[in-house]
Amino acid sequence: VPDSSVLNIGLIGVGRIGRLHAANLAHQVPRGRLVAIADVIEEAALHSAAEHGVPIAVSEYRTLLDDPEIHAVVICSATDTHAQIIEEAAQAGKHIFCEKPLDLTLARIDTALAAVERAGVVFQIGLNRRFDANFRRVRQAVEHGEIGRPWQLHIVSRDPAPPPISYVKVSGGLFLDMAIHDFDMARFLIDSEVEEVYAAAAVLVDEAIGAVGDVDTAVTILKFANGVIGTIENSRSAAYGYDQRAEILGSAGMVQTENNYPNTAVISGGQTVHRDLPLNFFMERYTQSYLAEVTAFVNTALDGGAPAVSGADGRQAVVLALAALKSFRENRPVRVAEIDKT
Ligand SMILES: NC(=O)c1ccc[n+]([C@@H]2O[C@H](COP(=O)([O-])OP(=O)(O)OC[C@H]3O[C@@H](n4cnc5c(N)ncnc54)[C@H](O)[C@@H]3O)[C@@H](O)[C@H]2O)c1
Repeated sequence: VPDSSVLNIGLIGVGRIGRLHAANLAHQVPRGRLVAIADVIEEAALHSAAEHGVPIAVSEYRTLLDDPEIHAVVICSATDTHAQIIEEAAQAGKHIFCEKPLDLTLARIDTALAAVERAGVVFQIGLNRRFDANFRRVRQAVEHGEIGRPWQLHIVSRDPAPPPISYVKVSGGLFLDMAIHDFDMARFLIDSEVEEVYAAAAVLVDEAIGAVGDVDTAVTILKFANGVIGTIENSRSAAYGYDQRAEILGSAGMVQTENNYPNTAVISGGQTVHRDLPLNFFMERYTQSYLAEVTAFVNTALDGGAPAVSGADGRQAVVLALAALKSFRENRPVRVAEIDKT
């Protein structure tokens, strides 16, 4: 009889986000045990495994899928590998946590999620911001009617600096890679589906991003089924650091969040009042949410129940990103139904 009190986990892809999840799973999740790491760059797998005392380190992820002692996989490999690995992991009967975005095409997403459905395994998508304390409180304010009926949503989501071009090339681009978090946040906060999007975008930060067919600056207007109108502002660069804020206006008031700072010191001088910059990037800003999401996944895999963020949520964020991309390319508002005919 397998020990149902501990989930044995294999991690696939140990780059920027994989290293973070590996550290959490190895030391911070009492009911999860990180037992294996796979990365096509074998040294990366070996290095992380040695760092965290993980017994198995391999270059081939299928080794993990073939191991009956491994109950679940955490997929942190490049975006263009997700759908294939999900499908194979589901067929192998593993519970699956997968980083966002699910994949870049709906056809592949639907094949992967159908395999999950058939296998009856737990699937959670890594839309971690739903676990962030600031955004949870905004959601709660809406849910509890603290601001009355919501009218307007505004999300600001700017990175401190662009990722490497090698990452940009396989990322799916700004809408599918970066704004995907904000499309999910919009659905999460307003608790209504987006029916139409209208996006403007440009290459203002770095011409190299334009040269590989991507954009680095975007504003997207969202129209929700419940009448709310929203805007999302994205930039791949902000001189003052990671800028992650939300604001909702409703009939009885407003809720807004600020950035998170490493300290609360404010220095007042003869010329200016200043403070330190916000927490610099996702590893610092969303630390607590990354731990909370994998803890939720481990609990669901062991105890059952609905995943905190489902495959359908992961899919819908991709649908909105594809709609925004189409809107930008065709320079017109796009009905979400144009993208998703199911
Ligand atoms: N939720 C978040 O906030 C967040 C943040 C960063 C990245 N991500 C997502 O996580 C994924 C990885 O991003 P990253 O920034 O860590 O990228 P990265 O390039 O730093 O790391 C990816 C790693 O996966 C490995 N890899 C690629 N194909 C593989 C395969 N077939 N088998 C095993 N390993 C493989 C690469 O060798 C590399 O080590 C992307 O899908 C990205 O969108 C999410």
